[in-house]
Amino acid sequence: MASIQGVYAREILDSRGYPTVECTVWLDTGHVVVASVPSGTSKGKYEATELRDNDSSRMLGRGVLQAVSNVNTILGPLVIGRDPTAQADIDQILIQADGTPQKSKLGSNAILAVSLAVCKAGAASLGLPIYQYLFQQYRVVENLNIPTCIYSLINGGEHGADNLDIQEFQVIPASYMDYASSLNLGITLYQKLEEVLISKGAIHSVGLVGGFTPNLYNNTDAFELLVETTKASPYTFAQDLFFGVDMAASALFEAGRYVLKDKSQPYSSAELFEFYTKLRNLYQVFYLEDPFQDDDWSSWKQLTAELGATTAIVGDSLLVTNKERVEKAIAERACNAIAIKPNEIGTLTETIEVIKLAKSAGWQVVMSHRSGETNDDLIADLAVGLGADYCKFGPPNRGERVVKYNRLLQIFQDLSQPQPAA
Ligand code: PGA
Ligand code: ZN
Repeated sequence: MASIQGVYAREILDSRGYPTVECTVWLDTGHVVVASVPSGTSKGKYEATELRDNDSSRMLGRGVLQAVSNVNTILGPLVIGRDPTAQADIDQILIQADGTPQKSKLGSNAILAVSLAVCKAGAASLGLPIYQYLFQQYRVVENLNIPTCIYSLINGGEHGADNLDIQEFQVIPASYMDYASSLNLGITLYQKLEEVLISKGAIHSVGLVGGFTPNLYNNTDAFELLVETTKASPYTFAQDLFFGVDMAASALFEAGRYVLKDKSQPYSSAELFEFYTKLRNLYQVFYLEDPFQDDDWSSWKQLTAELGATTAIVGDSLLVTNKERVEKAIAERACNAIAIKPNEIGTLTETIEVIKLAKSAGWQVVMSHRSGETNDDLIADLAVGLGADYCKFGPPNRGERVVKYNRLLQIFQDLSQPQPAA
């Protein structure tokens, strides 16, 4: 059994240039691992609390030196000497040290940094790739597979340039494609889309996570662009790929209605429902993430009842990877899929409990990045090792997204090798 010899956190920057927490753990075996924590922009109001210094004289108040200090002086000493494979026990110690429902005392960023580093240390101590370690430790699924990738090619909302309201316009390869073919599709469409934008003289700069942010009259026009791009590619729309959206609808909700450019008056929930039906019929939009705001349970239930048989109704900020909210959504049949973001809840153990719960309800699981990412590729291993059906790492450009796609390539190659007989 290996034991944790040291834990050290420091402040680094995420892909937006905002500070975040990085944690190094070293073992008596000589293994050294490093994990870092992402951060969202369109955060759910029920997420665990990310601790920021709020010291306006430094990093515009966004510093995380207090969270770093909480790791170095409180959480680290509590886990030193422990077996890094005892993830559940260690996470329990971290949760208890904080003692608040939202992890607001020590910060979910401090707690998650340690939790994720411990996971990497556990895998290293057994000499296993992380996805294999997770697979063997938790047995969430029976076989290892690469999830279907969701490529967000056009960005709007809080990730965009204030021109489109929908946060992500996504291209999703058909499930018959293996990962190599899927990545080829993602890359081909991303680059064809750039050509289409240039040919139209449209602005082809990119948003917060690297998707294009063209100037268009309305959100529906973005689908027209994606259809045109598909026609200019070797792929057939509705056969090789379909479309999806992350509406991040809470960000569109003002005074009881949803404000979108596609109509002069804001949408009621019922009108937004109609909009989704139209998107599905016209553009094969079979993936709807956060279609309504986080407290509009009755609209979620109605949408799942009416479109859920054919469409993924995905709770992200509705559920915030939180067991109680997922239990409520299962009981109320409010969705049929979940976006998993470890930093919404703050420990790996709680994240895995939620994945198991969602799977037990027959839901599909989407392993998701945040808009503020680091070059840590751990979520690729989490996606495979914990049996996600989909993964959402953003568009296939920019280092902090590409590092995850490249890690999937490595895992895909590993899994394609003949496996030794058991
Ligand atoms: P966020 O958005 O990381 O900015 O919260 C990502 C998402 O909503 O899926
Ligand atoms: Zn989302």
